Amino acid sequence: MIIRRFVPDDFEDILSIEQEAFSDHNPLVYINFYEMNMNGFLVAIDDNEIVGFVVGYQLNENEGRIFSLAVKDEYQSRGIGTKLIYAILKVFYGNLIQYASLEVRISNTRAQKLYNKVGFVSCWIEKKYYFDGEDGIIMKMRISPQCLLNVFDTSNNPSQKQVTLTKREPAFKIPDSI
Ligand SMILES: CC(C)(COP(=O)(O)OP(=O)(O)OC[C@H]1O[C@@H](n2cnc3c(N)ncnc32)[C@H](O)[C@@H]1OP(=O)(O)O)[C@@H](O)C(=O)NCCC(=O)NCCS
Repeated sequence: MIIRRFVPDDFEDILSIEQEAFSDHNPLVYINFYEMNMNGFLVAIDDNEIVGFVVGYQLNENEGRIFSLAVKDEYQSRGIGTKLIYAILKVFYGNLIQYASLEVRISNTRAQKLYNKVGFVSCWIEKKYYFDGEDGIIMKMRISPQCLLNVFDTSNNPSQKQVTLTKREPAFKIPDSI
């Protein structure tokens, strides 16, 4: 399994995974993300097939927001979601961002377990955050070099350069509204 940046040819596969995973499907958001934020759009590939993706962007000077994460049904529970989360944390860290945040449905205990395992803690509840009235939990974590050390070892993996910004570059700027 490798993780690399999204390219436009991936779009159809991403939409199909997205549609399967979320009820509030909105393809336009993903086009905008790609146009505004190529570094924060990563895909997981297994046997030449796209099996998952993660999208993150810079919310403010110190905080990266994970906007979306999904793994194809039949590939779930194999560690792919965890690897995608670490990959986006690495991108944030490479862009000098110290904190990561996300929002998750209160009923989505499976995703919450994953986030807890990586180091996210629940901070507060946003009442009726979702279009169907469900509450959302805001989770945050501090990104430290230590928390990235346990990450999948890609040192022998040619895709590593595609997910890790080894050079500490200036932060990418994304408008708050997407
Ligand atoms: C949430 C999601 C991305 C997890 O991806 P995944 O590849 O299955 O995750 P992993 O295999 O890395 O599992 C990570 C952790 O999630 C939890 N988890 C995974 N599968 C689980 C299951 N069937 N039941 C309960 N917890 C589970 C476990 O804590 C697991 O850690 P462990 O393997 O050490 O026990 C995936 O289930 C998904 O795409 N769900 C639909 C979309 C979604 O909810 N996205 C998140 C929106 S905030």
